[in-house]
Amino acid sequence: MFKIGVLVSGGGSNLQSIIDKSQSGELQCKVEVVIGDRECYGVERAKKAGIDGYILDRKVLKKELCRAIDKIVTEKDVDLIILAGFLSIIDEEFVNKWKEKIINIHPSLLPKFGGPGMYGIKVHEAVLNAGEKESGCTVHYVDTGVDSGEIIAQKKVAVLEGDTPEVLQKRVLVEEHKLLPESIAKIILERK
Ligand code: GAR
Repeated sequence: MFKIGVLVSGGGSNLQSIIDKSQSGELQCKVEVVIGDRECYGVERAKKAGIDGYILDRKVLKKELCRAIDKIVTEKDVDLIILAGFLSIIDEEFVNKWKEKIINIHPSLLPKFGGPGMYGIKVHEAVLNAGEKESGCTVHYVDTGVDSGEIIAQKKVAVLEGDTPEVLQKRVLVEEHKLLPESIAKIILERK
């Protein structure tokens, strides 16, 4: 079975979409481990689903965070690492070791509205401030830059009259919950 490790920093709704689809058999993989870089609901979701969950506090571990993550995902022998709302920056050593085995979901149509400081609600604020007519989400491989790796798949979402950042965020999130499992399925198929 294709084994997945998921890294989270927040609510973990994207993690939940993977858990649900892997448990229903729609996605042919097993979530082996979930790691949070802070106390967060994402790790709670893992535990509720009977998945090993760890909190590696970024404020305590600082530059050692990626080494600590590496130790766990190596022990668990995962085939793919998913950044699902993970807000710490992954260092070069880790990226090089796990080349083409780390993917990230981002709530915009990259390369637009990506890069340092662009995460969560800030992305949707920037999209609205720029007067964009459409937004969306992107799943991409992680390289040593921020939001710069090869794009795997994207879904577009219309920006509607009167949208607030929160309303747009919710509409994009609905598509994220489809795009991330679809992207994982594509990778599993390619690697079989
Ligand atoms: C998602 O919208 C994800 O795309 C975004 O954080 C949210 C996490 O939600 N990620 C980034 O902004 C990364 N740059 P979730 O915890 O409910 O899955």
